[in-house]
Amino acid sequence: MSIDVFYFSGTGNSLQVARQIARHVDAWLRPIATYDRQTEPIGPEDALGVVFPVHGFSLPRVVETFLKRVDLCRYEYIFVVSTKGGSPDLVVRDVSRLARRQRRTVDAFFSLSMPNNTHFIHDLDTDDEVDQKVRRAEEDVLRIATVVQLRDKYIPPQAKTFSLTLLGAVHRFLSLTEFGGFGRRFSTTSACTHCGVCVTVCPSRRIVMGKGRVSWDTGHPCYVCSACVNYCPAQAIRNRGLKPSRTQPSSQYHHPAVRALDIAAQTET
Ligand SMILES: Cc1cc2nc3c(=O)[nH]c(=O)nc-3n(C[C@H](O)[C@H](O)[C@H](O)COP(=O)(O)O)c2cc1C
Repeated sequence: MSIDVFYFSGTGNSLQVARQIARHVDAWLRPIATYDRQTEPIGPEDALGVVFPVHGFSLPRVVETFLKRVDLCRYEYIFVVSTKGGSPDLVVRDVSRLARRQRRTVDAFFSLSMPNNTHFIHDLDTDDEVDQKVRRAEEDVLRIATVVQLRDKYIPPQAKTFSLTLLGAVHRFLSLTEFGGFGRRFSTTSACTHCGVCVTVCPSRRIVMGKGRVSWDTGHPCYVCSACVNYCPAQAIRNRGLKPSRTQPSSQYHHPAVRALDIAAQTET
């Protein structure tokens, strides 16, 4: 009886949660970003966990693609953990719909409030808020691990309101358009030192370094994960769609325990 924990993460919140769950329940940690390129077969695990950030009120497109491709029926127990900045979301509804396409249900859903990693939607958290949320998430992970170990069911109640339908429409628009073109508006400022960190952390391999110049190859999808903006050591990545945060004009966020190299590892095959 063993467990696959697949994860996707831009700034480490979901990676850290996935790592901690994997440690507690003794699971294999597998990056969603390399699933398409993976050559070795996935082992005979009987349980599947999927951990990812909420993007635009639901799951990131790369996670949606993964859930359409992975054979859910080969797992006896499936759990889903989403991390988010704090807005309402449609994860339970949308993942359940994807599972139903394979005549499968998800056994447990968990949602963790973690530090926000983009001021596209909300302001970033203060240092104190980051500390609090990170600590609370660590406690929540222990509860999740217990439920998973016991293979218990946990489906949180879902409100069925008009606003959820509206959020669904907004999510579809954002997902199909790389956040209204946001994913196509990255550039570097003169502070860029061409260190290449952005190239290595980008989970879609979209960022390329050519002749001392960083550019975004629009032939690759942008997962809009904000890893490049948040891990740039020179804070040199800008997006024309990203207004300066009101409270922290030049700040960045990534999970304190997750380094750029850890994020980069999710694309190493
Ligand atoms: C493009 C984008 C969209 C986001 N949309 C939402 C959202 O709709 N609701 C929310 O609560 N948080 C949202 N967030 C915040 C992240 O879900 C949250 O910070 C998450 O824990 C980041 O996880 P990661 O570090 O594993 O990438 C968004 C972040 C990004 C980059």
